[in-house]
Amino acid sequence: MDKVSVPLAGREYDIYIGPGALQNFDFARLIAGRDVLIVSSETPAKLYADVLIAQIKRSHKLREQSAAQALRLESIVFADGESAKTLASAGEIFAKLAHMQASRDVTLVALGGGVIGDLTGFAAALWMRGVAFIQVPTTLLAMVDSSVGGKTAVNLPAGKNLVGAFWQPKAVVADIDVLRTLPTRELSAGLAEVLKYGAYGDAEFFAWLEAHAAKLLQLDPVALTHAIVRSCQQKAGVVLRDERETGERMLLNFGHTFGHAIEALMDYKGILHGEAVAIGMVRAAQLSADIGLSSAADTQRLIALSHALQLPTRVPPALLPAALLATMRLDKKAISGAIRLILWRGIGAGFVGTAEDAAILRAWTQ
Ligand code: NAD
Ligand code: GLY
Repeated sequence: MDKVSVPLAGREYDIYIGPGALQNFDFARLIAGRDVLIVSSETPAKLYADVLIAQIKRSHKLREQSAAQALRLESIVFADGESAKTLASAGEIFAKLAHMQASRDVTLVALGGGVIGDLTGFAAALWMRGVAFIQVPTTLLAMVDSSVGGKTAVNLPAGKNLVGAFWQPKAVVADIDVLRTLPTRELSAGLAEVLKYGAYGDAEFFAWLEAHAAKLLQLDPVALTHAIVRSCQQKAGVVLRDERETGERMLLNFGHTFGHAIEALMDYKGILHGEAVAIGMVRAAQLSADIGLSSAADTQRLIALSHALQLPTRVPPALLPAALLATMRLDKKAISGAIRLILWRGIGAGFVGTAEDAAILRAWTQ
């Protein structure tokens, strides 16, 4: 099993990556008390909750001989999809924890995609002012992005991720075997976030992705493990240097300001987050080339790799550039007047910049 460390002082943790990770992980080492609450959604719960529960019990048994220390293991399962990421869901978790009479040594375990990871982390950050949680990501996007770095949140009717906390997990257990059941479209959406790491910050990794796109789509375990490890190493480094996103961490939003506008205008329906980010990264590259920062050849390489990873690159035609620009203005990264964006000087050379409305409108129309 590969391991990537996130050595934040006093809150350090490891990300375990590889086939069979779920059936081999020593959960008991990280479970301080007797109470464990598994939070999941219908599909990952149906597919993997039994395996997870069996492994938690097995690891506990190996460690703890005394029957008095018996585990109290409970589960809560939400509907699949973004609709679960609400304050009401967090309230359901709190009610469950209250019913369990869970104290500060309870451990929450998130089994699912980014929605479940964000929701569980949010609840863990708030229950009794903060308790332990473990991330067991079951989508590629969650393995390479959302489960790492401690951003937790729920959505409000007024917008996505508007209420949240920085709260780091005790461990991330990324078992690549679970990706076999993931729909191909979700796999590609996760690959968009992998591509992001190369595109904004690592030209060598970008070239590796160009050479291994087909293997990744075929779920080749060696290629997949390498891509996840490399992505997590990059994200861990960024989080270590800028946990609270005052500088470098903003670069992880390459393509996201454009992408969020697409998702918001489509009411988060009919497009996956990773797909919107893929389209957004191409817009950011086109804008950069248009204002003379980068070459059109680099934009073409980005488009070609996106296609090789089965990702869209065109803006859905029903979305009008003026409406997209207006939506971008509402982004959390907007500063008074200008829109703050991640631009690039070419592959691997992203930076935080601003752009004029006219240039942004041109990028939306290309
Ligand atoms: P998701 O959690 O909705 O999962 C996608 C779908 O796949 C769901 O229907 C889920 O039930 C299903 N699924 C999960 N694992 C499966 C498996 N192994 N086999 C079959 N089906 C499976 O979506 P996502 O893309 O994982 O996460 C998106 C969320 O992540 C968004 O809410 C986004 O805001 C958040 N996010 C957070 C961060 C962060 O830093 N915290 C970063 C990026 C994205
Ligand atoms: N997904 C961006 C971040 O974690 O900062």
